Amino acid sequence: MNIMIIGSGGREHALAWKIAQSKKVEQLFIAPGNAGTAQVGKNVTIGVNDFEALGKFALQENVSMVIVGPEDPLVKGIADYFAGHPELQHIAMIGPSQQGAQLEGSKDFAKQFMIRHGIPTAAYRSFTAKEENQAQDFIRRLPPPYVLKADGLAAGKGVVIVPTQEEAFAELHEMFAGKFGAASNTVVIEEFLSGIELSVFALTDGNHYVILPEAKDYKRIGEGDTGLNTGGMGAVSPVPFADKNFLAKVEQRIVRPTVEGLRKEGIPYKGFIFFGLINVNGEPMVIEYNVRMGDPETEVVIPRIETDLVELFQAVANGTVGTKPIQTSSKTATTVMLVSGGYPEAFEKGKVITGLTETDNDSIVFHAGTSEKNGQVVTAGGRVIAVSALADNMEAALAKSNRNADVIRFDGKYNRRDIGFDLQRFIHH
Ligand code: AMP
Ligand code: GLY
Repeated sequence: MNIMIIGSGGREHALAWKIAQSKKVEQLFIAPGNAGTAQVGKNVTIGVNDFEALGKFALQENVSMVIVGPEDPLVKGIADYFAGHPELQHIAMIGPSQQGAQLEGSKDFAKQFMIRHGIPTAAYRSFTAKEENQAQDFIRRLPPPYVLKADGLAAGKGVVIVPTQEEAFAELHEMFAGKFGAASNTVVIEEFLSGIELSVFALTDGNHYVILPEAKDYKRIGEGDTGLNTGGMGAVSPVPFADKNFLAKVEQRIVRPTVEGLRKEGIPYKGFIFFGLINVNGEPMVIEYNVRMGDPETEVVIPRIETDLVELFQAVANGTVGTKPIQTSSKTATTVMLVSGGYPEAFEKGKVITGLTETDNDSIVFHAGTSEKNGQVVTAGGRVIAVSALADNMEAALAKSNRNADVIRFDGKYNRRDIGFDLQRFIHH
């Protein structure tokens, strides 16, 4: 079959890399893709939100499955667009309906959903600009620090945590004044949870699900998890503190009630659910939902999946997810992100990347923000390359990732050298 992946990051390269290994694939297209996806499929210069052009291309090339990488087209309704056009209806869409995508598109919707289904999450209230006084009263009743979240999509920047009430009031006011545009017309204020975070992923057909390997990502730019937030600087899977007992709680209290909640409410959902979790004294709670895979989590989750990914997606489309267990590797996967100097603030693009052919077979080089220019691979984003590796333990995997990370070079390259640093204490040799 012909398959199209939508997106252009490391997540999409990892999905493309895996899908290209399936015997079921004839042609693989990535819209718009990057220099890495071009090695395993064919890039198509169509933007992720140009539904009409994507639909036309899918018809023209006889595409029978579309996998949506990023949240933006999902929240804008790409699945509904395909389902609503008779000539596109037969195409299997891996990605939820617009209504389902509200789990990520509106934090208020996600919170209400969790409350309705008894899913553990931080206590909260949401407010609109007219209710600034009530919002201040709510803040006064909470212990510090204060967690304020723009309701809508804000490119991963919509969450602010501040230590004092004064800062919370100031932040609240800025949000209502349009700090995040329409995304902060409504603000969610919630209880601060203290614990260690991890991400759990499920693939659902709307009725059943399979749970994929869990992962932990490292969001801050600086070592020791300091400095500004980024899209993610590295990741590890499995997560050593997520033992059987903990993961059983996650499934029972969070994954199952989420899928059942979607089904009961009649919300069409065929795709990934990303559970952003926090371990509070051994009890899992939901920090957020995403309606897609994580990036760079995909770069460690996908290498650990042994099952044919296309077969798994076909089960999603057919409503038979979970009838066959998925096979996963017991090895540890790590990834180290190479970023442009200056990221996550201003950075330059177009730097020539060298060393890509000098990496050894111990790592998998996923392109995150690259493009091809005059026969050379150049930087095209803040996050440039994710160097993944698999090994018997985390230390060995990190050694491979780091070794190959050093081989790849470009002007201004930066990467953290401490991915997994906080997990050592959970590993018992
Ligand atoms: P989000 O965009 O919802 O993932 O939030 C970004 C980050 O803010 C999360 O990864 C957490 O580190 C932190 N965060 C969000 N909500 C809370 C909370 N209720 N308590 C503590 N930390 C939080
Ligand atoms: N790495 C976090 C995310 O993809 O949202």
